[in-house]
Amino acid sequence: MACLYHVPEGPAGAPIQDVNMSVNQHHLSNFQVTQDAIKSFANATDPRMAEVMGLLVKHLHAFVAESHLTKAEWLKGLAFLTAAAQITTDERNEFSLLSDIMGISSMVDVVSQPPGGTPSSVLGPFHNLDSHVKPNGCDLTQGQAGERVWLKGRVLDVHHQPIANAQIDFWQNADNGLYPAQDAEQDPQNLRCKINCNANGEFNLLTIRPHPYTVPTDGPVGALLAASNRNIWRPAHFHIIVSAPGYVGLVTELFPAGSDYLDDDTVFGVRPGLIVDVQQCHDAEVAKRFGLTTPFKEVSFDFCLVNASSV
Ligand code: BEZ
Ligand code: FE
Repeated sequence: MACLYHVPEGPAGAPIQDVNMSVNQHHLSNFQVTQDAIKSFANATDPRMAEVMGLLVKHLHAFVAESHLTKAEWLKGLAFLTAAAQITTDERNEFSLLSDIMGISSMVDVVSQPPGGTPSSVLGPFHNLDSHVKPNGCDLTQGQAGERVWLKGRVLDVHHQPIANAQIDFWQNADNGLYPAQDAEQDPQNLRCKINCNANGEFNLLTIRPHPYTVPTDGPVGALLAASNRNIWRPAHFHIIVSAPGYVGLVTELFPAGSDYLDDDTVFGVRPGLIVDVQQCHDAEVAKRFGLTTPFKEVSFDFCLVNASSV
């Protein structure tokens, strides 16, 4: 094959060492490019940066060699990245979405997960740093459409002891499947809040059942998903960030059991430990407080944080 980056292989898949000199020199010079490119990062001020960039170069070069990437394909890749940059704003980051749909965000979650804690999951683009702190036990529904769900739980340490002073940061989509950033009809604070847990690490709030939703498809990532005949949907989920002084913060999601796309999340965020049953609740006091009829729906989940000193 007349490909610039083709490394000829012998019958057992090993590089051929005794073919004509020009091919062999080509092979050696490609190898030299990789070594030189790795070395070019070795003097970075931050040694971790040297390590990460060296490994990135090593694996990207291996990808180029193994795929026999053509110049036309590489130019297409650069055009894709350029289009991603052009559509990216403060409100919309196409590179985060690319990371999500490539499974990179989830791989980073998996490899950086401290042992013993609740699994983490993707942050997604709709977190709002300005969510208001609301009282424990608040009603986020405010008369809007949607099946009521009483969401409750505790924040515990790895020994199952409650963590006092924990905070929950919560957000989800509305009954029409949209987040406030996608829907001018919604208040920016709709279905989102921060809650300070009580001394027993307990929190609860009234919300609605979330819905499956498609990732944004109007940019180059959407075109990539379409060209790949890929699913564009995420299963229904609640987003939660759990934090407490002295503990490793947790960015995660809860997925109501039975939702569509649980086994085909386009951003690979579902973990078995994050699928929650939606149960029938008969709590008359809660029903009375919110004007619900029993039984109503309840999701209960205890989050487990890892002590920062143990990582
Ligand atoms: C979301 O959960 O809203 C989301 C996550 C990743 C990419 C796009 C959307
Ligand atoms: Fe989401």
